[in-house]
Amino acid sequence: MNEAIDLRELALEAGRLVSSEIKLHAGQTIERNTKSSPTDIVTDIDAWAEEKITDFLTTKRPKDEIVGEEGTAIKGTSGVKWIIDPIDGTTNFFYGLPGYTVSIGVAVDEEIIAGVIMNPFSQEEYAAALNEGATCNGSPITVNTPRELSQSLLSTGFSYLPKKRENQGKVLVEVLPNVRDIRRSGSAAYDLSCVASGKVDAYFEYGLNIWDIAAGLILVKEAGGKVSDLEGNFPSGDFVIAASPSIHTHLLNLLQTLSADEV
Ligand code: IPD
Ligand code: CA
Ligand code: CA
Repeated sequence: MNEAIDLRELALEAGRLVSSEIKLHAGQTIERNTKSSPTDIVTDIDAWAEEKITDFLTTKRPKDEIVGEEGTAIKGTSGVKWIIDPIDGTTNFFYGLPGYTVSIGVAVDEEIIAGVIMNPFSQEEYAAALNEGATCNGSPITVNTPRELSQSLLSTGFSYLPKKRENQGKVLVEVLPNVRDIRRSGSAAYDLSCVASGKVDAYFEYGLNIWDIAAGLILVKEAGGKVSDLEGNFPSGDFVIAASPSIHTHLLNLLQTLSADEV
């Protein structure tokens, strides 16, 4: 087996350690803290899941670097870096809505080469490894190939910071007349799994972090999609556009015109 496949399998094992337990607490847990703003919730289960995944990975691969949304920052020497969002879509999880995911990406020398996005509610396991394609529960998935942006279903998300949201609202007003419709799931990782599996045609969002998107970026790429930031470069976290290659340039141009990364 190659390294990317080995790492993908380990990511799946790690995600499975927490997935069922997370589902048991959906809609049943209390707010522990807030993060970027008073509306940005964290629960005990977010912290528990990150610790469980991290403990597993450090036992299996003690020389790897690990970063996680809930504060994990373990230095490594192997060149392998794990990027974890233990629950992406915590607001959905807190309210008991279905769209929350466990997202684990793996980079080697800063290139993302494997990723898994697990949906505890639907029990879907999305997985990808570099040059090995993307799958959902083991079956291959591909992005859609819409002919035009005007006939495309898009998803997006909003920052927890009121000022950023204000601009995101303005951008959306301009995007809406140019597309079929818009969805807002509440989990960036889930949104990326939807692009990869053709449940939406494209996704864009401003104000993200690398743990929201690391696994999703390789998933979309391996499913035949194109990912970029607002400059057209590979996303580093803050801005992501993920789409079928047939509409990516059109969407990128539209979002550039709208200055979609203004605060
Ligand atoms: C959030 C979700 C949401 C996105 C926010 C993220 P969290 O992550 O991915 O869809 O719009 O920007 O912060 O806080 O639920 O892990
Ligand atoms: Ca997140
Ligand atoms: Ca999270």
